[in-house]
Amino acid sequence: MEIKAIETSVLSTPADAVVVGVYADGALGATAGQVDQASGGLLVRLLKSEDVSSEAFDASLIPAVPGVSAGRVVVVGLGKRDECDRGAAFRAAGAAARLVAGKSRGKVAFFLHDGWAADVSAAGVAGAMAGCQGQDLYREKKNRFPFQELLWSGPAEAVRVGRILGEATSLTRRLVNEPPQEVYPDSFARRAAEVAKDCGLSIEVWDEKRLESERCGSLLAVGRGSQRPPRLVILGYNGAAADKPLLGLVGKGVTFDSGGLSLKPTDSMVTMKCDMAGAATVLGAMQAIARLKLPVNVIGLAGLVENMTGGNAMKLGDVLKARSGKTIEVLNTDAEGRLVLADVLNVAVDRGAAKIIDLATLTGACVVALGTDVAGLMTNDQSWCDAVAAAAKKCGEPAWQLPMFPEYSKLIKSEVADIKNIGEGRWGGVITAAKFLGEFVAGKPWVHIDIAGPAFLEKPKAWMDGGGTGAFVRTLVEVAGQG
Ligand code: BES
Ligand code: MN
Ligand code: ZN
Repeated sequence: MEIKAIETSVLSTPADAVVVGVYADGALGATAGQVDQASGGLLVRLLKSEDVSSEAFDASLIPAVPGVSAGRVVVVGLGKRDECDRGAAFRAAGAAARLVAGKSRGKVAFFLHDGWAADVSAAGVAGAMAGCQGQDLYREKKNRFPFQELLWSGPAEAVRVGRILGEATSLTRRLVNEPPQEVYPDSFARRAAEVAKDCGLSIEVWDEKRLESERCGSLLAVGRGSQRPPRLVILGYNGAAADKPLLGLVGKGVTFDSGGLSLKPTDSMVTMKCDMAGAATVLGAMQAIARLKLPVNVIGLAGLVENMTGGNAMKLGDVLKARSGKTIEVLNTDAEGRLVLADVLNVAVDRGAAKIIDLATLTGACVVALGTDVAGLMTNDQSWCDAVAAAAKKCGEPAWQLPMFPEYSKLIKSEVADIKNIGEGRWGGVITAAKFLGEFVAGKPWVHIDIAGPAFLEKPKAWMDGGGTGAFVRTLVEVAGQG
């Protein structure tokens, strides 16, 4: 898909469709006003008759509007004017794009930029790109057709940045949507190597032998039940002087989570190709950070394993020795993400990460607590968490902090080993999982983002097809950009 900034008028731009915005109170955006005038008040009439909706992120298609050279006009709800931030721009542009992308199109021009700040426009570009991307990878008859050309009326710089954010989101979504027969630890690592080469990141891939010599006993144990050996990917980006602090981004990359011997029932297992979303988010963000040449130093780590039930699989009661030296009693093989991250976090610390963020589809309990749309934030350092939460808010990615009550640390104490990989019963399962991870960050400022809900859509949203969402790619880039 070609993506270009344009300066032409909404009335005279030759395109299959032009997209204009309306605010929640029914007030037309500036370009919608031009369309309305040229068409003798058509938009206002259609809004009045409710043939066109002004509700946030509703998109309506009007063919052959008088006075407009494009074949159709799409009107999309932007929400309240004073709340029109990056999140609203992403969703509104996405909803309009998704509607238009239901058929094969040539040029589609977006005229949503309405006195917006450049970063809001950039989010709109990224949203428009996301709206055209389906999960129909293997369908002969596609559901979504990326446009030949996506035209955006707005500053060229916003389009450049938006395109980079959009492509990063798209990379993450695609990796999540591809089936586990395609995306497994080694193939993910090879894809990461391609991305790294393309955008100038350094990359190291640890195979099972290296993982062994590095004493990654916890990560390796999860991979033991699979024919597909585990990998650890370490991406490096140096945009600042060597003595500047290193930001560590860590992703859970369970390319399929069967639950292991604590086997999941079918209903919970069906979507478990999404369990590598944390790793895919880190890869997408690293790509964007490099392409934007942000003035920071970042290390991105992806712990890649397939959690299966083979004859060599870890067993209940097994005691693992993590890279940090801590021993872990395995009481549920389906609590595997934390076992993987234990070793990856330890490597991040060893490599000198001064601050750490990990992303993981870690617990169903997080989805129970916050619903499917909201990520859980947990931390050992409130000011670092505040910074991450502020970035998420700015990007329009819902997140909510959950408490790390000190008393809950004892819920993961084991009689046999230093710790066990589940709490006492299922209560507070989001927090006990985070408590476990917190044992492996060596006191470094750390934020854990549980994306079990928002990483994957079981049902489509108006602005995005079902499947992988790329949630938190933009937030990570924003955090990195803050230095
Ligand atoms: N990958 C799952 C968590 C998950 C659930 C992700 C739903 C996305 C959607 C994780 O490995 C898991 O199985 N967690 C268990 C933990 C339990 C055994 C302590 C869970 O949530 O049931
Ligand atoms: Mn699991
Ligand atoms: Zn999992």
